[in-house]
Amino acid sequence: MNVKVLGISTSPRQNSNSDLLLCQALAGAESAGAEIEYIRLRDLDIAPCIECNSCYKRGACVVEDDYQMLSSKMLEADRLIFATPIFFMTVCAQAKALIDRCQCLWAHKYVLKKPLITTGRDRRAMVIAVGGTKSKKMFDSIRLTAKYFLDVLEMNYAANLFVNKIDDPGRIKQHPSAMNEAFRLGRELAATDVPPPEKPVSVELV
Ligand SMILES: Cc1cc2nc3c(=O)[nH]c(=O)nc-3n(C[C@H](O)[C@H](O)[C@H](O)COP(=O)(O)O)c2cc1C
Repeated sequence: MNVKVLGISTSPRQNSNSDLLLCQALAGAESAGAEIEYIRLRDLDIAPCIECNSCYKRGACVVEDDYQMLSSKMLEADRLIFATPIFFMTVCAQAKALIDRCQCLWAHKYVLKKPLITTGRDRRAMVIAVGGTKSKKMFDSIRLTAKYFLDVLEMNYAANLFVNKIDDPGRIKQHPSAMNEAFRLGRELAATDVPPPEKPVSVELV
């Protein structure tokens, strides 16, 4: 069976740099024989978590929108590629809304102590982030948020592609090494013949 790779693009704008890298990574995964699916959050309706804590009893979210569909896809996928712009040193609001809605998965696992994923599945994820300026701490917040998000999803945090000093829309197309790395990391992510890494492989480019 083909590895299923889900790409989630969270940038709100057209010609987004993180989105262009995501498409390259998906092309890389496809070149390795994976079945790919691409979803743009700006086409969906995903409200923020309202912290009603109903999920502590139900194990599911009471807010009904596109989250339910996307959550099923995230749980079904073998691989996830999550792409975000850097907004105020962290993920954009659209990405954060999706991450926060996964609180119901956390409740399902840790409050209700029910299994989420069939044991033994090889699930891995890669994070792509692009920021406009250069700062040593630019990706610190993303790393931590992604670690906890992927833990809830029961995915091995396999790789990061972080690029800074890319601001104008579409500018990443003039950065061939970032585009090539996205393709390579996407291809590697789809592989099944190598064990998942213990720590995320991190590629950081200026
Ligand atoms: C609301 C907002 C906040 C931003 N915050 C940062 C920031 O904290 N650090 C930074 O380097 N760039 C920041 N940027 C610039 C974006 O990260 C940059 O333009 C990036 O290329 C956007 O990626 P995208 O094209 O995938 O949306 C910000 C942009 C916006 C609109």
